[in-house]
Amino acid sequence: MLQDKRILLILTGGIAAYKGLDLIRRLRERGAAVTPVLTRAAEQFVTPLSVSALAGEKVYRDLFDLTDEAEMGHIQLSRSADLILVAPATADIMAKMAQGRADDLASTLLLATDTPVMIAPAMNVRMWDHPATRRNLAQIADDGVAVVGPNDGDMACGEYGPGRMSEPLEIAAAVEAHFGPKPLAGKHVLVTSGPTHEPIDPVRYIANRSSGAQGAAVAGALLSLGAEVTFVTGPADVAAPTGARLVPVQTAQEMQVAVDAALPADAAVFAAAVADWRMATASDRKLKKSKDGLPVLEFAENPDILAGVSQMTAGRPGLVVGFAAETDDVEAHATAKRARKGCDWIVANDVSPETGIMGGSENAVILITEDGADPWPRMPKAEVAMRLAQRIADALM
Ligand code: CTP
Repeated sequence: MLQDKRILLILTGGIAAYKGLDLIRRLRERGAAVTPVLTRAAEQFVTPLSVSALAGEKVYRDLFDLTDEAEMGHIQLSRSADLILVAPATADIMAKMAQGRADDLASTLLLATDTPVMIAPAMNVRMWDHPATRRNLAQIADDGVAVVGPNDGDMACGEYGPGRMSEPLEIAAAVEAHFGPKPLAGKHVLVTSGPTHEPIDPVRYIANRSSGAQGAAVAGALLSLGAEVTFVTGPADVAAPTGARLVPVQTAQEMQVAVDAALPADAAVFAAAVADWRMATASDRKLKKSKDGLPVLEFAENPDILAGVSQMTAGRPGLVVGFAAETDDVEAHATAKRARKGCDWIVANDVSPETGIMGGSENAVILITEDGADPWPRMPKAEVAMRLAQRIADALM
């Protein structure tokens, strides 16, 4: 609940600005007062009239509006809020924030404030992936700005990928988490995520269909509850959550080294879809077609990282959570897996293609603990992540 909270909501110019209108409603429903600010570009997408009607407050638009300066200067405007939220945040406002530029009202407010700032980026996937945006994002996060999203999905421009602004409900949840309790403050949680790539030769590899979405969401949820998160991830499709200590890896063996290096931890969540096998010997040259027949690929078993950590005798994390991806008899297989690996909990899900879970945005899981199996209703992966993070926080209390 956001009772008594004042949020300065800056809408910058992108097609996602229309979702900003819904966001105003969601924030007000939760009790927040919303003071809206529109950039020139945002006015091309939503009108000041609709924004002020929904906010129930005057819209601030111009740095040099003298009446406003007489009523409330921009310094006071930015400091009277409990949170400054930029949604949508364009690549342009992120660049200005990274550089500390102040050439319009929005950027001046952001520079003149000591209030916490949260942004919900929204842009074309190429802009999001551009090295300049990567640099700006790293700088902004380093400056202490909280980042929500973006999500993967179809974009207004017809492309697909990361860059879609988070949904208003997700942003409202992040704002609530910002003001909410931080039960995981001071706790270190290790999260593995994504697939691994096991090389066959320099150009080929074995992989799986994991997108890394559930692992990234879990890490994000843990961060929002105040945890310090080490995020060890294979080559995933989705962006790593901002604010985590990021350790990118390719293979299962590299993941194991990274996990060992990240310990000790208060809790560890193994959401990665680790390849069970690698090549017994990966070729250091590209395998060529030959008249002598087909190549024979000989496998070797990868280390079971989850089992290794679960069975540590000294320095084992207080809570070890594994995932189980099954296609049949989900509960029975996952229960057996929990016992076999020695972890405390298993988050089991059905990854049969007809469920659309692997690579999709929703998940239906069964949480298996020493108390038995607890099936959760189907819900967005972000909600599964938040519920799991809450359970972890309760367990570590
Ligand atoms: N896991 C791991 N290291 C591995 C394999 C799996 O840490 N080499 C972890 C995963 O991150 C996940 C859990 O173990 O948390 C279960 O993975 P899964 O692939 O479902 O289990 P498997 O060990 O492969 O068992 P099975 O072959 O019976 O499905």
